[in-house]
Amino acid sequence: MNKIQAEELLEKYGQQHIMKYYEELDDMGKEALLSQIENIDFSVLSAHGAPEPDKDGVIEPLEALKLQDIAKEKDRYKEIGLDAIRKCKIGAVLLAGGQGTRLGFDKPKGMFNIGEKIELPIFKRLILNLMDVVNESGSYVPLFIMTSEKNNDDTVAFFKENDYFGYDSDYITFFVQDMAPSVDYNGKIYMEDKGRISLSPNGNGGWFSSLMNNKEAVAMINKFGVEWLNVFSVDNVLQKMADPVFVGATIDSGCASGAKVVKKAYPDEKVGVMCKKNGHPYIIEYYEFTDELKRQKDAQGEPAYNYGVILNYLFNVKALEKIADAEFPVHIVEKKIPYMDDNGNYISPDEPNGYKFEGLILDMIMLLEDCLVFEVEREKEFAPVKNKEGVDSIDTARELLKKNGIEI
Ligand code: UTP
Repeated sequence: MNKIQAEELLEKYGQQHIMKYYEELDDMGKEALLSQIENIDFSVLSAHGAPEPDKDGVIEPLEALKLQDIAKEKDRYKEIGLDAIRKCKIGAVLLAGGQGTRLGFDKPKGMFNIGEKIELPIFKRLILNLMDVVNESGSYVPLFIMTSEKNNDDTVAFFKENDYFGYDSDYITFFVQDMAPSVDYNGKIYMEDKGRISLSPNGNGGWFSSLMNNKEAVAMINKFGVEWLNVFSVDNVLQKMADPVFVGATIDSGCASGAKVVKKAYPDEKVGVMCKKNGHPYIIEYYEFTDELKRQKDAQGEPAYNYGVILNYLFNVKALEKIADAEFPVHIVEKKIPYMDDNGNYISPDEPNGYKFEGLILDMIMLLEDCLVFEVEREKEFAPVKNKEGVDSIDTARELLKKNGIEI
């Protein structure tokens, strides 16, 4: 792309300020900026927030496999799961491309030390959880770790320095997710410096396409014959990956996917709730939740929409391949975005100052035929580290780790 083409493109999207310092850049800088402009998907700028609630969509409850049902079949599910794990049919995908702005830690979130008396980075905690499955099954689980351009080098180096926390590195593949521009409240793309557009990871919804674009990851999937991918977030320090009981129950159900859920802590808790929409599995966001839906009860007299997702999903790879080319909605998310101001100073804001554009993993679920909703005990499996303090914070996660007898 040459300068004139870039200017034409930017004019079309009202982003001419990007070239403000172009003439001050050296040849390499000019080339780098033009290449950035060429590779950006400007169409995301026309996204207008999360998709409007679909008024015509028919929302129905989707019954969960509850703790008591799971307990009855636990041994059988576990055997099915362990068998699949031993045959290397199950891969684990750690989503670690986010920026963790709420935590305000300037390294990858997985490097955050959740220990008190001992050094316990979140990555180590997660690998130790996965090692429980390795020890029980006698087989390593292929692990794919999604990073972003912003944190890939730090993440890869950290794993290497720590000898992969005892995991066999032949079973680990890192892959980098795509980036998207971020804008101020007037829709103007932020610059990072005079020759560089500020880009952010494009949300966790792009994990499958990014995984499939990585040759090493595809080779690993083919080599081991991986049929299912268990996708989970980096910030839940009680996260159980490749949990044999969950894996076995999902395979046994014949569903194309499974979602771990916890019972809502209180009716207005701000979590996405599993349900059905137009016959497909769906995650209804708290802001779409009407009073009428809140009042509905199931046959046992319990609230009909009562199970929140915890970002731990199991996907059948063949089912994902079928929806790989579908168009996913783009969500606008308000965030703190570091940027260069009009005087050329680099600013790292304390408060949100604009929007990022993100694809979300939950949009994948609704394209699938079905989903097994699998209840887990909140206190045993859900300790997210989202905020510095308060709800879902470092302190609440530490408390829950201790409650579960984990040395920190
Ligand atoms: P969050 O929605 O909590 O986003 O991510 P975040 O960027 O980590 O944190 P905040 O909102 O800025 O504080 C949930 C999971 O999805 C991953 C995160 O790493 C986390 O595991 N994620 C999020 C990605 O892998 N890529 C993204 O672009 C966004």
